[in-house]
Amino acid sequence: MKKEKNTHALLFLLLLHSTLGQLDYAPHFYDYGPSSTHGNMALFSISEDTPVGTQIYVLNGTDPEDDPVQYGLTFEKGSKEYFWVESKSGNVTLVQELDRETQDEISVLVSITDGRNKVVETVRVFVTDANDEPPEFQNLPFIINIPEDTAAGSSIYRVQAVDRDMGSGGSVSYYLQSSAVAKFTIDGHSGVLRVKPGETLDYENTPTHFVTVVAKILQQDII
Ligand SMILES: *[C@@H]1O[C@H](CO)[C@@H](O)[C@H](O)[C@H]1NC(C)=O
Ligand SMILES: *[C@@H]1O[C@H](CO)[C@@H](O)[C@H](O)[C@H]1NC(C)=O
Repeated sequence: MKKEKNTHALLFLLLLHSTLGQLDYAPHFYDYGPSSTHGNMALFSISEDTPVGTQIYVLNGTDPEDDPVQYGLTFEKGSKEYFWVESKSGNVTLVQELDRETQDEISVLVSITDGRNKVVETVRVFVTDANDEPPEFQNLPFIINIPEDTAAGSSIYRVQAVDRDMGSGGSVSYYLQSSAVAKFTIDGHSGVLRVKPGETLDYENTPTHFVTVVAKILQQDII
């Protein structure tokens, strides 16, 4: 009778042991969103003019058992290896020059391990425009003759500038400098210049109007 009890006790301990063996949870990254400089690097944006050697990010995660974790970083086959991570601190350094015109998105495989479990995530990093090229007007100079009886609201001219970094794709916006605002309006998107509704032009009074148009590059937010 006594012998039997001992056997049961022994079996119970063995079961407990094997259950504990599975209770090693995998580490995980923190994700504080694209504007944070620590976490899993997902959707992180970096300006193309960041100097090589700059510490750009800290990979940061944790292990449920509080075991020390190590970080890793790899790139897809054929991609330049833009970043390097110090495995213990998670510090990520830029090691290759960036050029948004060549590659505006980098796919990175970030990993975190507690020595037994390794978790790998594929994240995208965006390279943003350093805006080193100002927009360029396409049809200079703008000297236009218009009859003084041009009706208010009539379109007079279409100003066009291109963003040499991003291409024309609607990323340029137009404004009139304040002195011109009295008689004219411009469509910020299309660049069409018009006589302001309710205004008339009078050749005898003002034979020449100087209209200064400002072209601005709209920064595109990538979320
Ligand atoms: C990692 O995230 C934890 C939790 O938010 C924070 O306490 C710690 O300071 C972070 N470490 C780094 C290096 O950013
Ligand atoms: C990681 O970067 C932090 C600053 O963010 C710095 O204090 C720390 O010394 C760096 N660690 C290593 C190992 O480079």
